[in-house]
Amino acid sequence: MHFRCHGCGATVDAARLWPFRCPQARTGDDIDHVLMAEPPDAAFPRGAEQNPFLRYRTPLSPYRLARAAGLSDAAWSEIVAELDAALVAVDGRGFRITPMSEQTRLAAALGMKDSLWVKDETGNVSGSHKARHLMGVMLYLRVLEVAKLPAGHALRSRRLAIASCGNAALAAAVIARAADWPLDVFIPPDAGAAVKQSLQNLGARITVCERRAGETGDPCVLRFRESVAQGAIPFGVQGTENGLAVEGAHTLAFEMAEEFGRIGIAPDALFVQVGGGALASALAQGFALAYARGVLAKMPKLIAVQTASCAPLARAWNKLDGLDLTEAARHRSRFMWPWETPPASLASGILDYETYDWWAVAEGMRASGGRPVVVDENTIARAHDLAHRLTGINASATGTAGLAGALGLAGNQGSIALIFSGVER
Ligand SMILES: Cc1ncc(COP(=O)(O)O)c(C=O)c1O
Repeated sequence: MHFRCHGCGATVDAARLWPFRCPQARTGDDIDHVLMAEPPDAAFPRGAEQNPFLRYRTPLSPYRLARAAGLSDAAWSEIVAELDAALVAVDGRGFRITPMSEQTRLAAALGMKDSLWVKDETGNVSGSHKARHLMGVMLYLRVLEVAKLPAGHALRSRRLAIASCGNAALAAAVIARAADWPLDVFIPPDAGAAVKQSLQNLGARITVCERRAGETGDPCVLRFRESVAQGAIPFGVQGTENGLAVEGAHTLAFEMAEEFGRIGIAPDALFVQVGGGALASALAQGFALAYARGVLAKMPKLIAVQTASCAPLARAWNKLDGLDLTEAARHRSRFMWPWETPPASLASGILDYETYDWWAVAEGMRASGGRPVVVDENTIARAHDLAHRLTGINASATGTAGLAGALGLAGNQGSIALIFSGVER
């Protein structure tokens, strides 16, 4: 099971080396290093299991690694079932296909002639889609342990590490607790008290990260990188730090694509709220795979939604202006650099200073005929309010920010799909 870096072409054998940060990445080389699993050659899975990590196991790289290492299909199911039972004990729920429904009242409010679909991730493990990303990583770690692969040597002597003070941190803490693995969380000084309390209740160790003189970028990410350099396992949701993290959320795209295929609709556009970019990257890749396997009649246009307060992806997109993406991956700093002004928004989960996974999102937008949309605060607030009133789904403003991108559309844009990605806490 090999991974390849889309920036420099380096390959990694996931049985021998972690497919997390590209081994060729060097500070200042200006290459956009992200490791991606080699594409699966199997047909689209057609199982009936309700746990997405069972139903869609065959394309997932940890499963392919497990099988290549001699573990049986039953051994995989046992690994998933064991973690699932532990998740139920820790969080009251394991992974199950989440609901997707047509929202006619919302479509009417938008003046749409076509259908509007909402995938509801508020009831997913830990209350957001983030847990999918990290379950993918945890399954890889468990396969290394169970199959006793070289990359798993002394694995349990290492702590997991993440930079986040929101949904990603909570998801990491729930999954780490379920796997009985110690976790360090790097958070900013203004992190919410309730999140801090939940992290502590889940047994995570918290480090508050003040900005140091002369530092640019997110101090939490900088401290997280230092901890990884000292041996911690990157357990965050940025593809640049852990290429494998993106893949777990392919399951979200697979669930949506399979359901659209079943009802015989291929949405014209998919509006996705973008912070670090792992969610949009995972959806672009997952939908592309489902489309290539004939599950969908066409690819929805990927529309990446950011707030005016912090829009590094839209900035990068404007600079790309038709340039070759392979070339762009070798000159990252021309397109992506930390947002200069401190951002603020009701949609606080999409205020990442950098869209770490910008390249894959740009590729997904190009391939599907999509683009970025930047929305103002009023639209973010309106989307949040409409979502609550017209769908009854208790999503946060970050979770409904994709809808904000769709609010400015004329009514004849075709059918659209949205993800209400996280619960209001
Ligand atoms: C609920 C929710 N939706 C969407 C996002 C954006 O995801 P990404 O950072 O992968 O772009 C986040 C990120 O924190 C989030 O918490």
